[in-house]
Amino acid sequence: MTYRFRTTLRDRDVTPEVHYLNRRQVIGGALALGGIGSAAGAAVPFAEGEVPNSFEDISSYNNFYEFGTGKEDPKRHAGSLTTKPWSVKIDGLVDKPGDYALEDILSGVSIEERIYRMRCVEAWSMIVPWNGFQLSELLARVGPKSDARFVAFETLVRPEEMPGQTSRMLDWPYREGLRLDEAMNPLTLLATGIYGRDLPNQNGAPLRLVVPWKYGFKSIKSIVRITLTARMPQSTWNMLIPNEYGFYSNVNPEVDHPRWSQASERAVGGGLFAKRKPTLMFNGYADEVAAMYDGMDLRANY
Ligand code: MTE
Repeated sequence: MTYRFRTTLRDRDVTPEVHYLNRRQVIGGALALGGIGSAAGAAVPFAEGEVPNSFEDISSYNNFYEFGTGKEDPKRHAGSLTTKPWSVKIDGLVDKPGDYALEDILSGVSIEERIYRMRCVEAWSMIVPWNGFQLSELLARVGPKSDARFVAFETLVRPEEMPGQTSRMLDWPYREGLRLDEAMNPLTLLATGIYGRDLPNQNGAPLRLVVPWKYGFKSIKSIVRITLTARMPQSTWNMLIPNEYGFYSNVNPEVDHPRWSQASERAVGGGLFAKRKPTLMFNGYADEVAAMYDGMDLRANY
């Protein structure tokens, strides 16, 4: 079974989703790696009938607290966010720190399509056809120094355009972090679009992280800073409620959230009476990522 990702965009804006999706019914972990996927071993196809969510689902049911806490708030309010011009500060333990214009970042990478599962810690899930590039490409360009072990990310702070930031419910900026090997894993993406269109603001325009084997809150949106560090960085939800949200936050059906089970999930768009799906270890990407956690107690390192 082969599945290659197009690197150039064609008629997606006008392709009805149903046709777009017919070409991509079987998708999964190793397959999602495109050209290098074959090296990762057996493909992990989605279960029969598991197809990407509609553009409408993906862009109207969101978590983006900078625009409010309701699932429909981001779509309602994110139109006000100015995403041009955009730059990303890359600093800390790198050979080439600087303020990089988004266009410069994008000119050095190849945009691919990756269809990934997305599992929110709140136990709902989606399947999203992202467009983006591997974070590893960008990191290789800036050159992590030998003592860099973690990567920290920050979202912008702009309360004039982000009404949620006028409340202090979170300690802005929204922050997240990965271990350097997680950041370099070929599955880890910086996304710039969905369905071949620019990323809607509510999904984290113009540049957001996608780490498909971790709970969705690790996939930080609208990134303006990437810092390479020697020490584990702070992350927003971990700072707020450390006993509920760990640094790793790998999807794990065997480790429940203190307030609810993580064994199953509700597929968004499945209808009110749809059966819950069992949640998969590492969200179905164990073949690609489990080795990074060999010897670690996944209950202690939640
Ligand atoms: N990034 C920022 N800056 N602010 C947020 O509130 N929410 C996170 C994550 N990234 C969030 C964020 C959570 S909880 C989830 S589940 C995903 O974004 C949701 O991504 P989606 O809205 O594109 O589905």
